[in-house]
Amino acid sequence: MLSEIKEIASKLAPRLIEIRRHIHSHPELSGEEYQTSAFVAGVLSSSGLHVKEGVGKTGVIGEILGNGQSDRTLAIRTDMDALPIQERTGLEFASRISGVMHACGHDVHTTVGLGTAMVLSEIAPHLAGKVRFLFQPAEEIAQGANWMVADGAMEGVDGILGVHVFPSIPGGSLGIRYGALTAATDDLEIIIIGESGHGARPHEAIDAIWIAAQVISSIQQAISRTQNPLRPVVLSIGQINGGRAPNVIADTVKMRGTVRSLHPESRGKLPSWIEGIVASVCNGYGAKYEINYRQGVPSVQNDSALTQLLQSAAEEAWGGDRVQILPEPSLGAEDFSVYLDYAPGSMFRLGVGLVEKQTNHPLHHPQFEVDESAIITGVVTMAYAAYKYWVMGNE
Ligand code: NI
Repeated sequence: MLSEIKEIASKLAPRLIEIRRHIHSHPELSGEEYQTSAFVAGVLSSSGLHVKEGVGKTGVIGEILGNGQSDRTLAIRTDMDALPIQERTGLEFASRISGVMHACGHDVHTTVGLGTAMVLSEIAPHLAGKVRFLFQPAEEIAQGANWMVADGAMEGVDGILGVHVFPSIPGGSLGIRYGALTAATDDLEIIIIGESGHGARPHEAIDAIWIAAQVISSIQQAISRTQNPLRPVVLSIGQINGGRAPNVIADTVKMRGTVRSLHPESRGKLPSWIEGIVASVCNGYGAKYEINYRQGVPSVQNDSALTQLLQSAAEEAWGGDRVQILPEPSLGAEDFSVYLDYAPGSMFRLGVGLVEKQTNHPLHHPQFEVDESAIITGVVTMAYAAYKYWVMGNE
């Protein structure tokens, strides 16, 4: 079956490049994927899938029924949204929308999803159960997976596969990761409330800026002394605002940051741990505080059986030297984790690096480019893994 899949995919290659370039030049921001989802629905329908639009606002679901020998369902998830970045690649199919760019490769993911759907629809009689394609909106704002789940996208799903492009892996290769792939990502806001006064008479005021500086230093020091170094926690304050004039002591400082962690136990303790530090600094200097801690997406924890499935599909398709077993997780965020509360799953990293060209920009860079040959690598890997799903004891 692998050679049939490869043959179908290579015939589709020119069409898939066209699709990817079309999506790339018409990027849409998170939650606004109207044209992209209409386009996706059109391609899925013309490939014979059962299509449902408007799932999770601007998401699309397509289903291939298989031959009915199994009542199980395998889901394949791809995301469709772009970023508020002005593209500077100079490509002829560069974004036609000012200030919006597919700089995270979701155009490639959508194309890999469509290509996989086209391939699997041709071999549908060989699939024992259902394959459900989830084309998800709003991944970049970590909302789309929640919207899809709320609309029933995971009902009856027994396993889910996902893919994300990775520029530091060369095009044609891919990365497999057992266990944690990405971090739990929470939002933090700390407001320090002091008392305003004359810059010349600090003893008559409570300086919120100085106390905010103490809070930041204390948190960073405390991480190294109180958190298990083998269970990473990263807290970055990315925004800080306070004060109105150079000679007036600020009464309020507002800080916003992101908190990343890999282990659920450490994550659960972080809100009260942060509050303890903020409270002790503020109490020491007579300031008040407010803390708003919002839990974002959990860590993606790849299921070992499905990761094994992806690894064996990839190794059979491309040979072991093109398949890297990734030794480390990333502290990035990925809302694929939301689906994993409903079914086990695994996400692989698709190499898109233009390694020889020296133009290998990172994700979210205005000059980010991909090796388009990766589309076929992704399609064949995904389609073959889906085919093998039912022969690995999942029937
Ligand atoms: Ni992304």
